[in-house]
Amino acid sequence: MLEGCGLNKSYGTLKAAEGISLSLVPGQILGLLGPNGAGKTTTVSMLAGLMAPDSGEVLVDGRPMKGDSDPAKAMIGLVPQELALVDELSAGDNLAFFGALYGMRGKKLREAVEKALGFVGLEERSKDRVSSFSGGMKRRLNLAASLLHDPPVLLLDEPTVGVDPQSRNAIFDNLGALKEQGKAMLYTTHYMEEAERLCDRIQIMDHGKTIAEGTLRDLSALLPATSRLLLELKERGGREWLPELLKLPGVQSASEEEGTLSVTLRDLPTGAPEVLAWLSSKGVAYTHMSSERAGLEEVFLALTGKGLRDS
Ligand SMILES: Nc1ncnc2c1ncn2[C@@H]1O[C@H](COP(=O)(O)OP(=O)(O)OP(=O)(O)O)[C@@H](O)[C@H]1O
Ligand SMILES: [Mg+2]
Repeated sequence: MLEGCGLNKSYGTLKAAEGISLSLVPGQILGLLGPNGAGKTTTVSMLAGLMAPDSGEVLVDGRPMKGDSDPAKAMIGLVPQELALVDELSAGDNLAFFGALYGMRGKKLREAVEKALGFVGLEERSKDRVSSFSGGMKRRLNLAASLLHDPPVLLLDEPTVGVDPQSRNAIFDNLGALKEQGKAMLYTTHYMEEAERLCDRIQIMDHGKTIAEGTLRDLSALLPATSRLLLELKERGGREWLPELLKLPGVQSASEEEGTLSVTLRDLPTGAPEVLAWLSSKGVAYTHMSSERAGLEEVFLALTGKGLRDS
């Protein structure tokens, strides 16, 4: 539906995007994950046709997009990272302004504005000035603005930055509904838990390059330790056995915090029975046990040696 092929973009000597290729398909969300300055917004701007790549091309339904005036741009809805709203205008007038940019007018425009406001739950606030809106409401209106012309492709550049949990959940629900409608979506974020929750596939960027891509499961498989075993210990204190546990062949790391023992295993099916048998031989009792897959934060850490947010 929308493809980026070998996209390159430099600002002076800084390579903001280097050979970025990605592909958006209907009914799926591709997560573009990376720390500040990774090149996410640069990539989105090229895909949206706002900025020409130095080399590489953007294909819309297999046809190369030809610059800013290409009519194929109407297929794309962009939710920019920087809010593009006029504070002095009402919510409804803001949307009417965006709709007019897409050549909509009259009844069609009024209906589109009403529908978009309703979709993001702001129909009651249509006549209120945007300056009176909370950060979360502005983000929801920003999303609504991208939907007026009902584009099949949506590019969302950090659409939940600075919003309260309630608005964030409302936006997530909206994105789920848009996915159901069959939209092809790109979602950039540096929150790995958002990518884990929302995205069908994930592409991780750092310093302008794609460093990994795949489903969450594919990415987890890149890690030497793929699972973590968590045990709530019955008794607190007295962890003299911890160094010995670390010596078991299947155990990669083990730590204890506030009564929860966390053991990273190279292989869950063989490692877990080994650990449990060893603990019972030492008389260590536990009340609850669970396991979890290594997350994206760990994948990123393993690939780059740094965290996603503090880089
Ligand atoms: N107009 C510009 N002129 C010069 N350098 C720029 C420009 N826009 C971006 N850059 C640089 O390009 C790199 C990539 O920036 P970009 O905004 O694409 O990153 P990002 O992944 O979106 O980051 P963030 O998470 O902070 O939004 C950064 O080093 C940034 O400083
Ligand atoms: Mg950005």
